[in-house]
Amino acid sequence: MDLFEYQARDLFAKHDVPVLAGEVIDTPEAAREVTERLGGRAVVKAQVKTGGRGKAGGVKLASDPDDAVEKARQILGMDIKGHTVHKVMLAQTAEIAEEYYVSFLLDRANRTFLAMASVEGGMDIEEVAATKPEALAKIPVDAVEGVTEAKAREIVEAAKFPAEVADKVVEVVQKLWTVFVKEDALLVEVNPLVKTAGGDVLALDGKVSLDANAAFRQSHHADLEDKAAADPLEAAAKAKGLNYVKLDGQVGIIGNGAGLVMSTLDVVAYAGENHGGVKPANFLDIGGGASAEVMANGLEVILGDPDVKSVFVNVFGGITACDAVANGIVQALELLKSKGENVDKPLVVRLDGNNAELGRKILNDADHPLVQQVDTMDGAAERAAELAAK
Ligand SMILES: Nc1ncnc2c1ncn2[C@@H]1O[C@H](COP(=O)(O)OP(=O)(O)OP(=O)(O)O)[C@@H](O)[C@H]1O
Ligand SMILES: [Mg+2]
Repeated sequence: MDLFEYQARDLFAKHDVPVLAGEVIDTPEAAREVTERLGGRAVVKAQVKTGGRGKAGGVKLASDPDDAVEKARQILGMDIKGHTVHKVMLAQTAEIAEEYYVSFLLDRANRTFLAMASVEGGMDIEEVAATKPEALAKIPVDAVEGVTEAKAREIVEAAKFPAEVADKVVEVVQKLWTVFVKEDALLVEVNPLVKTAGGDVLALDGKVSLDANAAFRQSHHADLEDKAAADPLEAAAKAKGLNYVKLDGQVGIIGNGAGLVMSTLDVVAYAGENHGGVKPANFLDIGGGASAEVMANGLEVILGDPDVKSVFVNVFGGITACDAVANGIVQALELLKSKGENVDKPLVVRLDGNNAELGRKILNDADHPLVQQVDTMDGAAERAAELAAK
């Protein structure tokens, strides 16, 4: 989960990373009072989950409270790379002498954590990385050892931070690592980390991405979710504990196991090419123990998607055998009917693996008017695509 800058700033403050005061508003008029509180001047910053805000005109200096209202008016509602600005942060202004770059991230390719740092921070760090890679120090960080003072010093030296700020940066780097570890982050990035005219080191912009897999031990992270931006179907699926991702096609997909569901998306997209370009409408993995209740929950979410024209249930029986899944489908359809749900879209079911024959027999005997069975995955994908195109 990516955070807004102001949320990253709050997490930094919580772990003693030096930041400037700031407040978030969503109407231009609110800028006057906040700017007065911040000392009469402010930087007005668009809060969107994308980079390059400054270059897009989303970061503006306001010289007085009236100017802040005007700048907030210009930025609120602005579109930055497809993200509409609904909130701006007003931040205290810093007198910047130098801009640096520091980040921690998970380096999946090398199975380690990575620190990156540069004294050429600011808005063009991507360009520095591309054209002057030697100016961006990359130091692996061992998960167990973490960032000790010695490690922080190694990072600071590799990036050639000037001697007069080295000690302060070492301290900030260690605190940023604390944020990374204590908050279960996948990314903590500061750009720019600045030296002020007075010689202080401050984090002026932060990007933090949190690991959703750690939600169980980070209960406060749920409060950071941008509920207004969440897709309603995804939110409903999440509330039911389902692994669901909304896509933009017409064939609803339910499968057991992430790998099977991913390949189901592929075969449906491929089959759809012969049927007017229909595509999968979602990813939904109901996991190993596909009980009737889980099946009903999955079907309820998928049938509630107005874009869905047909549903493909693709199950490979393993520990959960196909007869249990077939009973699950039958019971799920009954459950939905008894709840008054509108079950009116054709279901193509492919059962294979453990107890497939018994599973197929159960569905045949149930003889539900909306359910049809196809024995192969490709054949079922073809049929589901054909039905969706009708
Ligand atoms: N509080 C502040 N006081 C003075 N100048 C600031 C302040 N915040 C940002 N700036 C200046 O504005 C520039 C851009 O700000 P910031 O880094 O927050 O946005 P950005 O880098 O354009 O956005 P993104 O990180 O989304 O690409 C900074 O490099 C810095 O020069
Ligand atoms: Mg920045």
